[in-house]
Amino acid sequence: MTDAVLVTGAFGLVGSSTVKRLAADGRRVVATDLDIPANRKAAEKLPPGVEVQYADLTDPAAVDALVAAVAPAAIIHLAAVIPPFIYMRRELAEKVNVGAMGSLLAAAEKQPTRPRFVLASSIAVYGARNPHTHPDVLTADTPLNPADVYGAHKVAAEALVRASTLDWVILRLGGVLTVDPAAYMKMDNLYFEGVLPVDGRIQTVDVRDVARAFAAATTANAVGETLLIGGDDTHRLVQGDVAPAMAAAMGLVGGLPTGLKGDPARDDDWFNTDWMDTSRAQEVLKYQHHSWPEMLIETANKAGVSRHLLRVVAPLTKAIFTRRAAYHGRIEPYADPWGAIAAKWADPRPDGGKP
Ligand SMILES: NC(=O)c1ccc[n+]([C@@H]2O[C@H](COP(=O)([O-])OP(=O)(O)OC[C@H]3O[C@@H](n4cnc5c(N)ncnc54)[C@H](O)[C@@H]3O)[C@@H](O)[C@H]2O)c1
Repeated sequence: MTDAVLVTGAFGLVGSSTVKRLAADGRRVVATDLDIPANRKAAEKLPPGVEVQYADLTDPAAVDALVAAVAPAAIIHLAAVIPPFIYMRRELAEKVNVGAMGSLLAAAEKQPTRPRFVLASSIAVYGARNPHTHPDVLTADTPLNPADVYGAHKVAAEALVRASTLDWVILRLGGVLTVDPAAYMKMDNLYFEGVLPVDGRIQTVDVRDVARAFAAATTANAVGETLLIGGDDTHRLVQGDVAPAMAAAMGLVGGLPTGLKGDPARDDDWFNTDWMDTSRAQEVLKYQHHSWPEMLIETANKAGVSRHLLRVVAPLTKAIFTRRAAYHGRIEPYADPWGAIAAKWADPRPDGGKP
């Protein structure tokens, strides 16, 4: 075994921040992801000393070779297919989110010295959360009840890691945000956010703090623990405030339309986010460094002069997004997130709606 940390999904949102964090901490890092042009380009900007090994984790032989070559002390497993893309690519997603997990665990178990396995899970494992019937916040012990294929994949991945012979830590992440959100302001992502009940509770977290949590989890005294990773209490927000506040920080003041509230009488018609008790995670990983107000200030500072331009075009973007929004022209009073996802992409339910 070497002292290396193997990070899968290393060029994704969480992965790129985690690789940076580990490198800054002086850890030996091997970053792995798909061999595609965008990742080759991103690899050129990695901190010095970070090694890259390309692999498609759906190929068990490639996974075996990767783990044997790196002989890591710890694996941070982030690679996944996530919403909203997961709804379009259900079969591929299952291979990545569950199948690849199995190969990775099997390869790790074959190592003479077994690495610690740190899994990125999600609060999607808890399913739809109507704040009117669930005033309580999520804890590691809240019953699992996935509402969609994503939550179901994460439940399956967690079960695989728990059944393995490795030392493991599971981190269930809330809504991960970055102060550099331009790359994520894609039409699909905005449409997706627009279908979620505006009064649904969500606990956000700065991706740099998520990276700290993963780096710490490779060595912390937390083996066998499931930890909830959200930001501090300033990150306890409602869905409808998140994107407009981020957009406004970038200059797009009033540039996004307002969505619909959730139906207090229907527990299933809510999205799978909520506030969470992060006290144990913070105690053992000490990762919360960026409050929500600080994130907004930093986002505004990074946007620089382009803020003035965006301020001018805000009424236009609002008109465009309003016309393209899922509930545009509808007369229903409440949001129907799963129905809107099914209409735009595919049936999101764990079984895909099969009888
Ligand atoms: N972003 C969030 O808000 C959030 C919330 C909860 C949980 N998570 C979890 O955190 C992890 C990281 O999320 P993210 O936001 O960085 O996602 P992301 O989509 O930005 O990154 C995922 C990475 O996995 C890689 N990948 C996909 N298929 C692969 C394959 N077959 N082989 C190798 N690599 C492959 C992709 O190329 C990508 O770089 C995921 O497991 C996700 O489920 C994220």
